[in-house]
Amino acid sequence: MKFLNHYKAEVENSLEQFWQNYEAQNWDVPEREMIEAMKYAVQNGGKRVRPILSICVYDELKVEPQCGRDTALMIFNSIEFVHAFSLIHDDLPALDNDVIRRGNPSTWKQFGECMAILAGDALPTLALDNLINHSPENKLKALLHVLNQAIGMNGVLGGQVRDIYFDTHPVSYDALVKTHQGKTGALIKCSALWGGILAGISDADLETLSDYAENLGLLFQIKDDLLDLDGEESIVGKKLGKDVDQKGYVYLLGESETREKLKKLKAITVAQAEQLGSEKLAELVAFVCDRKS
Ligand code: IPE
Ligand code: IPE
Ligand code: MG
Ligand code: MG
Ligand code: MG
Repeated sequence: MKFLNHYKAEVENSLEQFWQNYEAQNWDVPEREMIEAMKYAVQNGGKRVRPILSICVYDELKVEPQCGRDTALMIFNSIEFVHAFSLIHDDLPALDNDVIRRGNPSTWKQFGECMAILAGDALPTLALDNLINHSPENKLKALLHVLNQAIGMNGVLGGQVRDIYFDTHPVSYDALVKTHQGKTGALIKCSALWGGILAGISDADLETLSDYAENLGLLFQIKDDLLDLDGEESIVGKKLGKDVDQKGYVYLLGESETREKLKKLKAITVAQAEQLGSEKLAELVAFVCDRKS
């Protein structure tokens, strides 16, 4: 899966370029301090799975590219900004109360709660600015719509509030899936759709891509729950053993059924990638399911 490292390096480059331009603006000291926290949350490690998925879709499926490849990479940075916002707030004492993220102090631990809340708030607006600055005019509405869905009640925020609710209420399998489709799946789906939209693929292919990405998002969270159970804390880079007693697939289905679920859904999702004609998108499924962090 050498292509994944290559894509990751391209994503990192594009992010670096973004920050260089952004930091060069004429900011006062308070804003500068917040930008430091925002940048920390984005740059502090991370697998970059979402923008990697976006650029992979763009490369693999492109029919009539709606913008150049470097512009596409710059646009995909916005997804990582939204992801970083969700992680900052997820780690806050009022939510998961986690002090370690990506093997380093979580943003609130490093900069204090006040700054973490504000930096988290600022990141989605940064994502929008970056999107508006670089999107092709005729695709802006579609990209905005998909992103807003991924952040809002049907996405990260809806998923997070469900996640908190089910800490103290019984959860059914369907309710759990819906929670994960929101908190994790929605942004992964958005990443794939952004790639597809900028690649100019047909509506029919967008549908297939959407199904593929929904399954990839579920696989991602099933694997996250399994890593919570049996991952190596120093490799995963976050506190583990948090979900087993309260929620998640392992709690609901048990370990062996969860593994079986991962295996079956993996096969289905690989087949969807093949239907889209992309070996790389199939390999990305394997990466998500076999990852150690
Ligand atoms: C962690 O996402 C949060 C979940 C949605 C499970 P990632 O595992 O993609 O986090 P990073 O960006 O690689 O740290
Ligand atoms: C969080 O899910 C998903 C987000 C929207 C950030 P988790 O709480 O399971 O993520 P981790 O395990 O802390 O990364
Ligand atoms: Mg959480
Ligand atoms: Mg968490
Ligand atoms: Mg987790």
